[in-house]
Amino acid sequence: MSWTVSEHSFEPERITTNGNKYMTGNGYMGCRGTLEEFGKEQLAAVTLAGLYDKAGDKWREPVNAPNALFTVINCDGQDLSVLAAEPAAHTQSLELRQAVHRRETVFGIRDGGQLTYTAERFVSMDQLHVLAGRFTLHSTVDCRIVIRTGIDSEVWDINGPHLSGQQSRMREEVLLATAVTGELQLPVAVAEQADFGFGRQEIDAERALRTVSFDAKAGETYEWYKYAAVFTGLDSGEEPEECALRAVRAAADAGYSELLEAHSRIWEERWLRSDVRIEGDDKAQSALRYSIYQLLIIAPTESEKVSIPARGLSGQVYKGAVFWDTEMFMLPFFLHSDPATARNLMMYRIHTLDGARRKAAEYGYLGAFYAWESQDSGDDACTLFNVNDVFTGRPMRTYFRDKQVHISADVVHGIWQYLQFTGDDAILAEGGAEVIYECARFFYSYAYYNPVKQRYEILDVTGPDEYHERVNNNAFTNALVHETLEIALKAAALLEDKYPAVYAELASQFSGGPFLAEFKEMLEHFYVPQPDPDTLIIEQFDRYYQLEEVTLAELKSRIINKHEYLGGGSGLATTTRILKQADVVLMLNLFKGKFSKEVKQANWEFYEPRTEHGSSLSPCIYALVAADIGSPDWGYPYFMRTATVDLTGEAKQYVGDLYIGGTHPAANGGAWMAAVLGFAGLHFDGGIAALNPALPESWQSVELPVRLRGSSFRLQISRGRVTVTAAEDNSGAVLFAGFGGEPELCRPGAQLQFTAPAREAAEQMLNNMKGAIFDLDGVIVDTAKYHYLAWRALAAELGFEFTEAHNERLKGVSRMRSLDILLEIGGREFSDEEKHAMAEKKNRLYVEYISRLDQSELLPGVKDYLHRLRGRGVAIALGSASKNAEFILDKLNIAGLFDAVIDGNKVSRAKPDPEVFLAAGAALGLQPQDCIVFEDAEAGVAAGKAAGMPVVGIGKPEILQEADLVIAGLHEL
Ligand code: BGC
Repeated sequence: MSWTVSEHSFEPERITTNGNKYMTGNGYMGCRGTLEEFGKEQLAAVTLAGLYDKAGDKWREPVNAPNALFTVINCDGQDLSVLAAEPAAHTQSLELRQAVHRRETVFGIRDGGQLTYTAERFVSMDQLHVLAGRFTLHSTVDCRIVIRTGIDSEVWDINGPHLSGQQSRMREEVLLATAVTGELQLPVAVAEQADFGFGRQEIDAERALRTVSFDAKAGETYEWYKYAAVFTGLDSGEEPEECALRAVRAAADAGYSELLEAHSRIWEERWLRSDVRIEGDDKAQSALRYSIYQLLIIAPTESEKVSIPARGLSGQVYKGAVFWDTEMFMLPFFLHSDPATARNLMMYRIHTLDGARRKAAEYGYLGAFYAWESQDSGDDACTLFNVNDVFTGRPMRTYFRDKQVHISADVVHGIWQYLQFTGDDAILAEGGAEVIYECARFFYSYAYYNPVKQRYEILDVTGPDEYHERVNNNAFTNALVHETLEIALKAAALLEDKYPAVYAELASQFSGGPFLAEFKEMLEHFYVPQPDPDTLIIEQFDRYYQLEEVTLAELKSRIINKHEYLGGGSGLATTTRILKQADVVLMLNLFKGKFSKEVKQANWEFYEPRTEHGSSLSPCIYALVAADIGSPDWGYPYFMRTATVDLTGEAKQYVGDLYIGGTHPAANGGAWMAAVLGFAGLHFDGGIAALNPALPESWQSVELPVRLRGSSFRLQISRGRVTVTAAEDNSGAVLFAGFGGEPELCRPGAQLQFTAPAREAAEQMLNNMKGAIFDLDGVIVDTAKYHYLAWRALAAELGFEFTEAHNERLKGVSRMRSLDILLEIGGREFSDEEKHAMAEKKNRLYVEYISRLDQSELLPGVKDYLHRLRGRGVAIALGSASKNAEFILDKLNIAGLFDAVIDGNKVSRAKPDPEVFLAAGAALGLQPQDCIVFEDAEAGVAAGKAAGMPVVGIGKPEILQEADLVIAGLHEL
């Protein structure tokens, strides 16, 4: 279930969304999740990583390759495209485990016949230049079929055309389409080979099209294959055309199944090192796995010359540019699961250092000012007018390019993170140190020394919150610049020690300064905004508090055009305290060790209501910090929103008149961060891997593989316990610390276990108990559903539907009030007398249902736990308000396990009064302190405590706060 994403109807308005949602790819190219018959109008595209082109004075963007999977089926003269003929049935799906895209479409044809068309395809993870497809047709009546398939050179472009000199030809059964890019004159070649075992084939070489015609027999299945290869002038010294020809022939020779097998093997291995398993929450599991899938299909595993664009390989949106998104939102996933790819991402920044130097120089600064929107050369693709005003159509001056200086600090942060995680300090010698110094030099030249306050400040910048441009002392930016300076000094020490020659060379290169002495001096007098001692709030930037205080709802009510840009000179948010995305809170997450829980909580509570989450980068940060402060359930909705963004397609599609749709890799990485670094609570600083889980209510456990400092570990994380297992073949050991306890070294093949202190104390208490007193409903059995079924039956009798969603309204509500709600839902009115009869009836139905109870209804782990207690000689009692308790225990076939049953017939005062538990303890002949109560309700927990007994709560920790230990069910014991 959670490995497949699918839908079972064709909806034209979802073509664009599904093009993103059903993406396949391999880091070399991305193939949009469009259907085989789609062309450029439906945004079909095979987007190439790292190949950019500029047409005229339009925006420079990635190049889409001609589409070699293009196929249209014609039956008896009619094109069976979902665009032309409404299908009788249609399924589109993505199998995540193997990264295979499938569609199955049934069309009605003449004489009541049906034609079923299936197409399956994948972008090979084994042969990065190869795509392959398997197709079938099956008709229930005889018909005439014509298949048109080949290479569609009419590619989708946003700011094209990028390819010229298109040529198509046939060479030795292979169709070839070649062209060159406009700006750099780089050749692009696509080859296609098809394997039809039937029909008459005609070739239109000029259009790179095959036409295969045949008379299909009713009941027969016709199957064929297609292979394609894509090469460009960036790949190697060889002619792309020759490479493509050779690759497609090799693919066809190997055959579809062999290619698929090799592809699947690599995927299996990728999942093995990256899949995160969540127990207890299928929706979260599916969404997280899908997010990881999205990251895996765009990861540059083979090239250090490309990084991951903000819209992945889902097209040309955002100019295919690489933003800070990579370092801050995606890198952590790769650091923990695939350090080699993480290295490629960082090497990309090293290779684009010259572009960053050019940008710094252009603005009159020293060092390296990285591109806000980076492409192949590192020059900034971001324009000065990024958004058009929707009202006037005029370009608006935006300052993303000029003022988001934090980008250079983000790059440094990424490189340092990489080094901490892997211990691979060679990256410093290979250019990493130079990047770090150049960025520090840039900030040295950018900073302003305030002689009055005698400190360095960073003025005139835009922080992560793009709605407030050109502000002074943005807390996030300053904190990161501070970190850059620190890293520059640490890197120097490391380099001098381990790579003295490289160090000497850099020291001489920068001997004119600013260099280490200046960085040190700047660091000593550098200003980073701190929490206000009274409110604990960190002001996002100087004079932020002077802005208009307005609710988000009020701000939104001022919107005139739904696409209007809220930032910029005259944007609605500009003059208010409303922020686009996490800013201070992101800083608190990056430097979590430096701030107290109180500071994090105060800022979360202050900034969250003021955050529009107008960027998909925002919600995950609130999830992370919520988990960090021990409130995972605050964070959960933000996690889900992030993890589902590419499944629902519910993200901003336009800013001004600019289309910004596509996939959201930063959110995909953010979902992973929220789950693993947030809820599972993993934090590695290069020395100790700390594990402080804060799992959302529905999550029982999280299990995942991680790679730290070159060694592999498997982590099993639940609320009260963490288990770390080191791979046998690890070459090193890593220190782990669970629940804030003492670190322990995890050697190759070893297993460590950490238990939460509260849990430890509770386990001791459980080991010492002499008597166990159980509540019935919610602890031993769940009869809530029978109440629902009884209400539903009553509603059905009255002629209306009563759903589970309706039933939510009845939780914790008395019988008579429940009936009123039910009647309100059904729109019916009755006299009091009639209502009493109905309530009686409902109860009769309920009793009837529970009379059918059997052992299978026992909650998980109950029987086993009761048996174990008896084995240990622990006395067992029931303490329940239910008047049917004995009857129910009997039905469940566990009555014999109880030494005493105190139920609603034996006591007169309801919980939270302790009567029932005191009576049960007395019946067992035990002192209260020797008994433990097991309870699922707040009132029950209170009753147990009032009886002077320790209590194990079963349910949610937030609700059962008074309990000594809270577990999800007896199966946890
Ligand atoms: C966000 C930036 C982000 C960019 C690309 C913008 O909307 O504000 O922080 O880098 O999108 O994802």
